Amino acid sequence: MRLIIQPDYEALSQWAAHYVAAKIKRANPTDGNLFVLGLPTGSSPLGMYKNLIELNRKGLVSFKHVVTFNMDEYVGLPQDHPESYHSFIWRNFFSHVDVNPEHVNILNGNAPDSALECENYELKIRQAGGIDLFIGGIGPDGHIAFNEPGSSLRSRTRIKTLTTDTIIANSRFFDNDLEKVPKTALTVGVETIMSAREVLILANGRNKARALAQGVEGSVSQMWTITALQQHPKGIIVCDEAATDELKVGTYRYFKDIERGNYNPSSMLLI
Ligand code: GLP
Repeated sequence: MRLIIQPDYEALSQWAAHYVAAKIKRANPTDGNLFVLGLPTGSSPLGMYKNLIELNRKGLVSFKHVVTFNMDEYVGLPQDHPESYHSFIWRNFFSHVDVNPEHVNILNGNAPDSALECENYELKIRQAGGIDLFIGGIGPDGHIAFNEPGSSLRSRTRIKTLTTDTIIANSRFFDNDLEKVPKTALTVGVETIMSAREVLILANGRNKARALAQGVEGSVSQMWTITALQQHPKGIIVCDEAATDELKVGTYRYFKDIERGNYNPSSMLLI
């Protein structure tokens, strides 16, 4: 696993955006050979999306030949609700870039048969040739997508009940009213994410420090689903300084040292 420590949120966001753009460019996708990208919602990726929009505007990356799969969606929230993950990703990313709407895949949280919806999602991912790069955030309890503590590390796309901690954390998007937060969600599984050829996790802020420390230093455990990344052959976490607060000094220094010289995001794109 690589751990890239950036000074602050802006630097982390720039690093992530340039990394993603460089991956897409290097893959040189075409009509017949699309790049498959897994995408998160939440506040962590907002800065990365802003930077990707900018790179797209400048013509430095195109999403024309990119197929996307979003990680998760609330159950029962109308698709056009401002806090549905569908609305979120269109508002904050898709409507500002040259993605082909036909290449966008988002779980339908209002599907009459959610088990079938999840099964079909896995099928669509397989038909797309698997995910080249899955980007994710991390919950304060170490969850990835909506794979809450106790989720099987072998899990695939399915319906999950949200923990009280997650409902409280996400209530900030619902007028701080716990009652308004949906209690279940459809989510890709831990193994769905780990089956991607590469996984990039973003962690910023002090409230992610415990989860980051577990993810990097803890034992692999269903109680911290982020730890599954340790077994991925190409796993990266990019974080800011604040998120490193709970790491051992030695761990912090080790990753700073081994990643020295890899800090210039623009050089990745050879702008
Ligand atoms: C939600 C999402 C996760 C996200 C997490 C952290 O639970 N399902 O995918 O990583 O929140 O969100 P934020 O980035 O807003 O801290």
